[in-house]
Amino acid sequence: MAILITGGTGYIGSHACLELIRAGRQVVALDNLSNSRRAALTRVEGMVGRSIPFHQVDIRDRAGLEGVFRAHEIDSVMHFAGLKAVGESVGQPLRYYDNNINGTLVLLEVMRAAGVRSMVFSSSATVYGDPKRVPVTEDFPLAATNPYGRSKLFIEDMLRDLVRAEPGWDIALLRYFNPTGADESGLIGEDPNGIPNNLVPYVAQVAVGKHDKVAVYGGDYPTRDGTGIRDYIHVTDLVIGHLRALEKLASHPGLVTYNLGTGRGYSVLEMLAAFARAVGRPIPHEIVARRPGDAAECWSDATKAKTELGWVAVRDLDVMCADVWRWQSRNPAGFA
Ligand code: NAD
Ligand code: UD1
Repeated sequence: MAILITGGTGYIGSHACLELIRAGRQVVALDNLSNSRRAALTRVEGMVGRSIPFHQVDIRDRAGLEGVFRAHEIDSVMHFAGLKAVGESVGQPLRYYDNNINGTLVLLEVMRAAGVRSMVFSSSATVYGDPKRVPVTEDFPLAATNPYGRSKLFIEDMLRDLVRAEPGWDIALLRYFNPTGADESGLIGEDPNGIPNNLVPYVAQVAVGKHDKVAVYGGDYPTRDGTGIRDYIHVTDLVIGHLRALEKLASHPGLVTYNLGTGRGYSVLEMLAAFARAVGRPIPHEIVARRPGDAAECWSDATKAKTELGWVAVRDLDVMCADVWRWQSRNPAGFA
């Protein structure tokens, strides 16, 4: 039996393919290649020494998806496919709702018709909106502040409704904090299109000389050094969390929800210092105005995943930065 990885050529999906195969599982990857390249999976194939079934299919393409479920014996789905750029979602809400919500709806219908009722879904800490307190626990009130966030929240609601209405589904909602890092081989990693919006890929591109300096968004937050605090989590730890969640689903829990974070927050300046240690020289930066919509602090309480899944993130900030730098410096043009 195989696990279908939607978004399998993407940043997190490609790392999931790698870790699942390393753990002895069979995977089938699917992606429409709208934000990634087939080359990521080719690299993974080289690392594991075998070919990985890949289908270039859009999750909104019902017939295409049905073909994938017919071609393989699939017993669960890790659903990474989706559009994820917050700013872009504000300008193109219908595209985000169609891709993320409609895509997930079609995927669920095809899964049900194929008798597959187990899914691990990539949710996000964005569903907590601007949290009133930190650390953030899973029972915090949910709110979204942009179309991307609303698409994640709506999909969560859709999945909660589905499990309530149709017993037999087993679904894990995994709320990621700030995924970063790369496989320690330096062979795969995050390869954003255009100019990155997120901190770490931007810092990496400054370090490799693509941009002059990092704009630090706000130096006057009520935090220890005035800059924003986030819970950065290594992508390898993150995908191992998915494996533990999948094991949990095998015990038929219905719907489960976990934060995937380290339970520790680091400021922008602390991240820049860690990256400088990895690179061996300072990262040029300048403090500028706050970015609208940013919270001062957002970091997880990671206790629930530890207690119920036996999972903790073990790779620290220095490992994250060293792994990003290995990937970025060896592949300055990404997979191109
Ligand atoms: P990514 O863009 O690298 O990967 C997503 C993949 O999905 C891409 O390869 C893209 O081509 C594919 N895709 C998009 N729409 C599709 C469609 N309609 N049909 C088929 N394939 C489609 O992003 P990522 O960082 O790997 O994120 C994976 C998931 O995790 C996303 O759902 C994202 O929202 C979620 N997430 C990511 C972060 C993060 O910081 N990276 C944080 C929280 C949640
Ligand atoms: C952002 C998204 C969030 C999404 C997450 C992962 C926003 C408002 N939030 O979260 O919905 O789930 O990415 O994709 O876009 N920073 C700088 N300079 C930069 C970039 C970022 O100082 O060039 C700061 C930010 O102000 C923040 C921290 O670095 O304090 C992390 O930013 P980022 O990587 O964009 O992640 P989030 O804002 O946490």
